[in-house]
Amino acid sequence: MEEVILMIGANGQIGTELATALRVKFGQNSVITSDIRAPKEPAEGEVFEELNVLDKQALTSLIQKYKPTQIYLLAAMLSATGEQYPQKAWDLNMNGLLNVLDAAIEFGIKKIFWPSSIAVFGPNSPKVNTPQYCIMDPNTIYGISKLAGERLCEYYHEKYGLDIRSIRFPGIISWKTEPGGGTTDYAVHIFFEALRHGAYTSFLSENTELPMLYMEDAVRGTIELMDAPAEQLTVRSSYNLAGPSFTPKQIAEEIQKILPNFEMSYSDNDPRQVIADSWPRSINDEAAKRDWGWAPKFNLSSLVADMIDHLKTK
Ligand code: SER
Repeated sequence: MEEVILMIGANGQIGTELATALRVKFGQNSVITSDIRAPKEPAEGEVFEELNVLDKQALTSLIQKYKPTQIYLLAAMLSATGEQYPQKAWDLNMNGLLNVLDAAIEFGIKKIFWPSSIAVFGPNSPKVNTPQYCIMDPNTIYGISKLAGERLCEYYHEKYGLDIRSIRFPGIISWKTEPGGGTTDYAVHIFFEALRHGAYTSFLSENTELPMLYMEDAVRGTIELMDAPAEQLTVRSSYNLAGPSFTPKQIAEEIQKILPNFEMSYSDNDPRQVIADSWPRSINDEAAKRDWGWAPKFNLSSLVADMIDHLKTK
């Protein structure tokens, strides 16, 4: 059977690159992207629809129009913005997911992808090599909504047999689209500023270690998880996934190996520091390795080299 993909929230950091990869895999006309606003430069030949995922009626109409076999739900408000608009974040992150889960059951959608986040962990979760299963006490509205979302995914899988798959993404580093409103965003901004101004002031302190992942790995991992045979998947909440972990100081030093004049400084008292301090420093992703063969390709030095290469030509 031919797959038809509906991606919701396709204009964001992950959607932009995941949609391209899915169009390569399934064909241009088999991927329908949607977002609350049209992209600035809609690409020729790509099918795009405006959609607010909170509008259940509009979601239903799109599903009836295109009859997708898979939905990728990427519309969400991230950790830092979520703290500014907690009610909006809760509404979008929870009710957006519920709308998609209910529509998936109503219309018999075969597979759903929904990203969770390392933000599901909290101050009492183990910080180093954080296991798949442990204490989870997120204290951001984003983390709380992602943890509740994970529980819903597992619930809908158990109760209704919905084939929903999920990854707990760490900070994602990419050059095509910048992230917006996250706590890990510094690790992307730093490259743009290094090339534009030769200097960057990090909003996280120099030794704040966080788990990260290069976009190419994130996209490949998502597609590999979606391709894995259902019976191999033992985690129906969301899979831990690890790439390299590093601090602002370490990434700055790596950038300086290529751009020796790059200057790094640090700001004090940014509210994102408190969020970062509540998150893991590194992630144990044994379950993803075992169940669907996950392995990252990029480490800190290769992702830094690749980012600078691409951004220089961009
Ligand atoms: N990158 C996200 C954030 O910082 C984590 O999932 O909010």
